[in-house]
Amino acid sequence: MAKRKLWLYQGNSTAFRIPKRPCFCWVSVICMLCLLTRTAFGCSPSCDCFENVSTVTCLDMNLSTVPKDMPIWVETLKVSGNNITTLTRGAFATNGTSLQLLATLLLSGNKIQFIEAFAFECLPSLKTLDLSSNRLLNISDDAFWGLHKLNVLSLNTSLSYSVGKQMINTRSIGRLSSLTRLELSGNKMSSLPVKLFASQNLKTLDLTNNSLKTVEAEIILKWSQHEKIQVYLQFNPFMCDCSLESLYSWLANTTQVPDAAHLRCFGPERLNGTLVLKLKTEDLECGNADLETVSYVLLGIVLALVGVIFLMVLYLNRKGIKRWLNNIREACRDQMDVYHYRYELDADPRLANVAA
Ligand SMILES: *[C@@H]1O[C@H](CO)[C@@H](O)[C@H](O)[C@H]1NC(C)=O
Ligand SMILES: *[C@@H]1O[C@H](CO)[C@@H](O)[C@H](O)[C@H]1NC(C)=O
Ligand SMILES: *[C@@H]1O[C@H](CO)[C@@H](O)[C@H](O)[C@H]1NC(C)=O
Ligand SMILES: *[C@@H]1O[C@H](CO)[C@@H](O)[C@H](O)[C@H]1NC(C)=O
Ligand SMILES: *[C@@H]1O[C@H](CO)[C@@H](O)[C@H](O)[C@H]1NC(C)=O
Repeated sequence: MAKRKLWLYQGNSTAFRIPKRPCFCWVSVICMLCLLTRTAFGCSPSCDCFENVSTVTCLDMNLSTVPKDMPIWVETLKVSGNNITTLTRGAFATNGTSLQLLATLLLSGNKIQFIEAFAFECLPSLKTLDLSSNRLLNISDDAFWGLHKLNVLSLNTSLSYSVGKQMINTRSIGRLSSLTRLELSGNKMSSLPVKLFASQNLKTLDLTNNSLKTVEAEIILKWSQHEKIQVYLQFNPFMCDCSLESLYSWLANTTQVPDAAHLRCFGPERLNGTLVLKLKTEDLECGNADLETVSYVLLGIVLALVGVIFLMVLYLNRKGIKRWLNNIREACRDQMDVYHYRYELDADPRLANVAA
């Protein structure tokens, strides 16, 4: 019996303990809850939390993902200078809660290449997003889904040309209906997608320090129709030839380019360094091509006129010409007669010879 009792006791040790020590159990459950809430809403070990200024910084920690355990009071989150390569879906959603108050998110200086769909979901208050100095290769169509309040998006020194182009198709930025400021400085962009700037609320478009040689008339038309927008274009290698004509005339007559006075020509060589607004219209050498066609047309007209006048002279002098022709004909006939006469004179002896 004793042996069996002991076996029973060992086999159901927990079952025996629970009713005997209920306090211990509840304490441990509460502690576990405490721990859970602390990791869910507390400060991550990789970050510094400053509740008085509602700021969490996780700077230069070589993090490869965004820390999940964020305090719910955070309004400014700085995760700059880490080693994040992909922003996956819900990268900022903490379990069961969302960062309702987060307004400023800095992700600059990471190695972000891919932003997946819904990466920023559950950030309803986000106003400023800094993605500058990353290595973006692919931004999903729905990458910025849910950022209804986003005002400022910085993509300085972050895009490869292919992404710049891809954005036309993805409309990922076009979906940011509240966007007022878009920074695209330092991206080596040599042409601009037309649809990128469709947002009606956009007020500032920073295109400084790119590789723009000119801006196409189609885009200038859009900008000029959208009078609220201010476009910054400094530090682009403008090619001051005829291709710059649309931009040149717009710059001369708009207040929408605040740095217009600082734009400089990069080429052609003779104009290198010249301020675009100091150019004269003829510097663009657009007129010359026109002038050439005009002069060819003029030459054609003059030749035609000369021809017509020549014909008219001929026509008006038709009597004189007739007379002249007659004279020639008569002269010829006289000549022929003389010849004929001679021929006939010569013929006789030959005939005589034959007869002989
Ligand atoms: C950054 O992360 C990648 C993988 O995501 C890793 O291969 C690399 O070593 C990391 N860089 C540093 C400096 O730790
Ligand atoms: C959040 O929940 C997922 C599953 O829903 C789980 O895998 C993950 O470990 C949780 N993270 C935290 C920090 O609790
Ligand atoms: C992006 O570049 C522009 C122009 O150089 C600058 O004014 C702006 O502050 C930059 N933004 C960030 C977030 O660095
Ligand atoms: C332009 O951008 C390049 C990086 O693409 C940077 O190194 C350079 O300092 C920038 N120049 C100016 C004048 O902002
Ligand atoms: C400048 O633009 C305004 C309005 O678009 C127009 O009325 C004016 O004639 C233009 N001036 C020149 C010099 O093109």
